[in-house]
Amino acid sequence: MTVTSLGVPRRLLDLTLDGEPVRAPEGTTLLDACRAAGKDLPALCHVDARTPASACRLCVVEVAGSRALVAACSREAEPGMDVRTDTERTRHSRRIVLELLASSVDLSTTPGIAEWIEEYGARPDRFGTDAARLEREPIIDNGLLVREDGKCLRCGQCVRACGGQGQHTFALSVSGRGFGSRVGVEYDAPLTDSACVFCGDCVDVCPTGALSVRSEFDLRTAGTWDEPAQAVTTTVCGHCGVGCELTLHVQDNEIVKVTSPPDSPVAHGNLCIKGRFGHQYIQNRD
Ligand code: SF4
Ligand code: SF4
Ligand code: FES
Repeated sequence: MTVTSLGVPRRLLDLTLDGEPVRAPEGTTLLDACRAAGKDLPALCHVDARTPASACRLCVVEVAGSRALVAACSREAEPGMDVRTDTERTRHSRRIVLELLASSVDLSTTPGIAEWIEEYGARPDRFGTDAARLEREPIIDNGLLVREDGKCLRCGQCVRACGGQGQHTFALSVSGRGFGSRVGVEYDAPLTDSACVFCGDCVDVCPTGALSVRSEFDLRTAGTWDEPAQAVTTTVCGHCGVGCELTLHVQDNEIVKVTSPPDSPVAHGNLCIKGRFGHQYIQNRD
């Protein structure tokens, strides 16, 4: 028998979004309240069903009575709140954030970034050609995962997924400061010599593609990664009896990536190495 948890009932709070009255369940973030009301705020470091990182500051909104702009991804809705999501101040702040990020980090594999740059009129090139950039070669030291530090925002979502909010392996940490900082493993060792268990959970939460599975990296490098043409199929992992939900991303009849729904009541978006990478036998017809 399948048991579906309905959770604890939550009271509804009354607040206003851009002058419109809305109701949101207690504990809802302003970002989720906005989304429920059909307002799609830009949010880069936010990952559904994960603790907010509040690192990119792209989702900022104005809250009446608050001196500073507020990160909508982490601020919970309160009764009587008066929230403005699209003012001159929020647009100005988002434009500056986009310009600083896009001038210093490779955002070429970040979903939605080109649309936000256009929407907010950001000009990352205005800092000139000698603007400081994170220029780092991809680290390919194993057959499953690739790390591209030049694409990293330092949001820390991967560190938390590898640590106390998911895998409890604690292989990743952020070291250094400013442009010298990086996400890495102990003693900057190859991933194969670290505590990493190759679950790939860090890849799933990375908002920019700084961490990717090798199959995606190789196809992107060859110029043949074609996400719109990929079929997406949900199934259940057959490697053990836990029953983790899998989402298979299939291109040209080959599984090119495996993810897991973050709202899955079984795995909560986390997988092990077998569920994530142990699918080659499906392709083997011999
Ligand atoms: S693959 Fe898993 S264990 Fe390895 S660094 Fe990523 S989250 Fe940590
Ligand atoms: S590798 Fe990805 S998830 Fe980790 S800090 Fe960088 S951008 Fe964030
Ligand atoms: S999405 Fe809110 S701070 Fe990044």
